[in-house]
Amino acid sequence: MLVPMRAVLEAADRYRYGQGAFNINSVSQAQAAVEVHELFRSPAILQGADLANGFMGGRADFVNATIEDKQKGARNIGSAVRRFAQESPVPVALHLDHGRDFESVKAAVAGGYTSVMIDGSSLPFEKNMELTREVVKYAHERGVTVEGELGILAGVEDHVFSGSSTYTNPLDAVEFFKKTKVDCLAVSYGTKHGAVKGKDVRLRREIVVAVKECLRHEGIFGVLVSHGSSTVPQHVVREINALGGCLSGTGGIDLSELKSAIASGIGKINVDTDIRLAVTRNMRELFFRCPSLQKSASAGAVYRLLASKPDRFDPREFLTPVMD
Ligand code: G3H
Ligand code: 13P
Ligand code: NA
Ligand code: ZN
Repeated sequence: MLVPMRAVLEAADRYRYGQGAFNINSVSQAQAAVEVHELFRSPAILQGADLANGFMGGRADFVNATIEDKQKGARNIGSAVRRFAQESPVPVALHLDHGRDFESVKAAVAGGYTSVMIDGSSLPFEKNMELTREVVKYAHERGVTVEGELGILAGVEDHVFSGSSTYTNPLDAVEFFKKTKVDCLAVSYGTKHGAVKGKDVRLRREIVVAVKECLRHEGIFGVLVSHGSSTVPQHVVREINALGGCLSGTGGIDLSELKSAIASGIGKINVDTDIRLAVTRNMRELFFRCPSLQKSASAGAVYRLLASKPDRFDPREFLTPVMD
């Protein structure tokens, strides 16, 4: 069943669990993600990033994606996810991640996204609220959920590099919810996008507690979103490097930190990097076939098939490790 993201957020908020939100860049990844959520009997949030829509619209150099590319991509992934969701027993929401402007939001909604993020975090506070408020009006009229962002995460965000993190001010966050009527808000509290998040990152959970307490006090619904939440498993990094990769200085957010963040009031947890790492590891294993990793359970059948039949050239076999 395809649902507005709001329904999934309400359940997470009421029962106080953290709902994962996973980035996808292709129809096969969407299908794999829905299947995994079915295994766990969990609702699903699949998210396509602004530029991922350009890519899924057929734009290989996605950083140069035009609005037409994004419209096409949103339609492509929107119709595929609708089909998967219709046939699935779990609720599925399709969310635009880091929408950069109104046009991108409209493209996503037209393509069938049931939720959009408008990331105005690089704008001054008032301008961010103004843009977000307009998007909320447009989206809510169409039954579409909205996520905003306040505060700047360190690291590469929206292809803008910010060296240090600007934590979200809790009072500003409460005002943001009140004035924009967003359903959820990405906060900056110590996480960071990408595979290099630092060593022993400690999250500023008091920021989350403060916002949630104020919202509760005022009777306002609002879910707090943890971006940059990948754990960056070191065994995956080591395997990528053993297969000819060269990743250095990597570090993620400890699962224990994420768990306490959920207990403090985080309701949605964004993960992209961990999936990118897993896909890269599996593709490298497939093509470089490092003997020490041959026995891996993951995609083992495909690896053995390709190893025993070097004459194969069927892309469906290459997509299997991506789905795994
Ligand atoms: O949080 C943002 C996404 O991880 C960025 O994805 O490089 O496809 O825009 P992208
Ligand atoms: P990671 O880079 O930690 O996976 O974060 C992804 C994210 O925040 C997507 O919006
Ligand atoms: Na941002
Ligand atoms: Zn993000």
